[in-house]
Amino acid sequence: MIRVSRRYTFSAAHVLAREDWDQARNVEIYGKCANPSGHGHNYEVWVTLRGELDPKTGRLVPLDVLDAIVQERVVARLDHCFLNRDVDAFKDIVPTAENIARHIWDVLKGEFAPVTLDRIRLVETRNNSVEYSEE
Ligand code: NI
Repeated sequence: MIRVSRRYTFSAAHVLAREDWDQARNVEIYGKCANPSGHGHNYEVWVTLRGELDPKTGRLVPLDVLDAIVQERVVARLDHCFLNRDVDAFKDIVPTAENIARHIWDVLKGEFAPVTLDRIRLVETRNNSVEYSEE
């Protein structure tokens, strides 16, 4: 078994707030990230796949195939968006780094058969990143 990771980037804005909480509660939970005007991040997403190495090619998956899928399913749909307003998945779910990573997992899972999606790592700032997997 081998794992291969590849990095993608997108820029997006968000507000961390629940509509069913008042602003005081949102600020209590999310701090200044609850500011209704929003703020942006230059996100970095690491997609990690795992599977059996193809002995003929010496590769797990053609990188151009991986790139095309991630570009269409993730980057094109999130880049330069206001996540809360523009992306259906975040209409009712707060777009925390954790939820964004899980969303990316959900849209990519099963896209690479017979290769398996191993994990999604989302880097939000220099100081924080999250990893999502389902094992
Ligand atoms: Ni933020």
